[in-house]
Parts: sequence; C-alpha cells; structure tokens
Amino acid sequence: MTNLTKSQLSTQDAILVEEARKAATILSYSPYSHFRVGAAVLLDNGEIIKGANQENVSYPIGICAERSTIATAHNIHPNIPINTIALAACNEKGVFTKEPVTPCGMCRQVIAEWECRFNKQIKIIMSAEDKIIIAAGIKELLPLAFS
Ligand code: THU
Repeated sequence: MTNLTKSQLSTQDAILVEEARKAATILSYSPYSHFRVGAAVLLDNGEIIKGANQENVSYPIGICAERSTIATAHNIHPNIPINTIALAACNEKGVFTKEPVTPCGMCRQVIAEWECRFNKQIKIIMSAEDKIIIAAGIKELLPLAFS
C-alpha cells in the first residue's frame, strides 16, 4: 500500500482521479445518504469509464460506485481487462472527503472477481481531497479472498 498526496500522482493516475471526482459530482444518485461516490476505470485499451453510486428508496438495493462502474465497463467492453480503478467521494456541496474513500466488502469481492477472470492485478487508487492511498492489487485490501 502506498500513501501519497495528489501532487505526487503520475499524470495518468491524476487524470483517473479527476475522472472519479467528476463522476462523484455529476453522476452520483444519492438522495438518501447524500454521500456521492465516483469511480473511474482505466481499461487496457486506454479507455476510461466513469460511474457512481445509484441509491434506491429500498436502501439495500442501492449499488456502489465501484460495482456500477465495473458493470458498465463490462457491458461496453466485455473482454478488455481493467488496469486501474480510482475512487473519490464528496458531499452535495462538492466537498471531497478528508480521508481516502475505500471500497466496501462487496466491491472488494467484485474487484477480486475481475482480477481472477483476467489473471491480472487491478491497481486501486483511493482518493480524498489531498490524501491518496494506492493498492497494487485487491489482495492488499482483501487477503485470503474466497475463490
Ligand atoms: N458506497 C459506494 O459507492 N462505494 C463503497 O465502496 C462504499 C459505499 C456508497 C453506497 C451508498 O450509496 C453510499 O456510499 C453511502 O453508503
């Protein structure tokens, strides 16, 4: 796991975090939690796909940003592996979290599925207003995963 600040990101990672921030701001449907989570997935073909959390009045059926974005990526490019996923979260005023947003357990399991499917690590960039944590692959966040 690597801890750094926004200004220390590579150009490509900084672009992906910016896309995740845009997704949180523009795409999140979160009228119940008011917690806007955005994700941006970089595919191996260079394409970036954005998504956000989608809530429902029946609370448990809401879907997290990570799973909504990975599903979108799959629906557009079913056979292209995911290289990196970046996450960001903000409130309704567009103020980003002070601490990096991390994927929930279900989303970790889904990321693990995709690593397994393509036999390839997925880099996970968890961002905040300034702080960043980077995991090289899901094993750092989900050790001894069910498979
Ligand atoms: N959420 C995500 O989008 N990703 C996570 O990994 C954790 C939680 C969303 C779900 C819900 O819409 C809101 O954040 C508050 O829990």
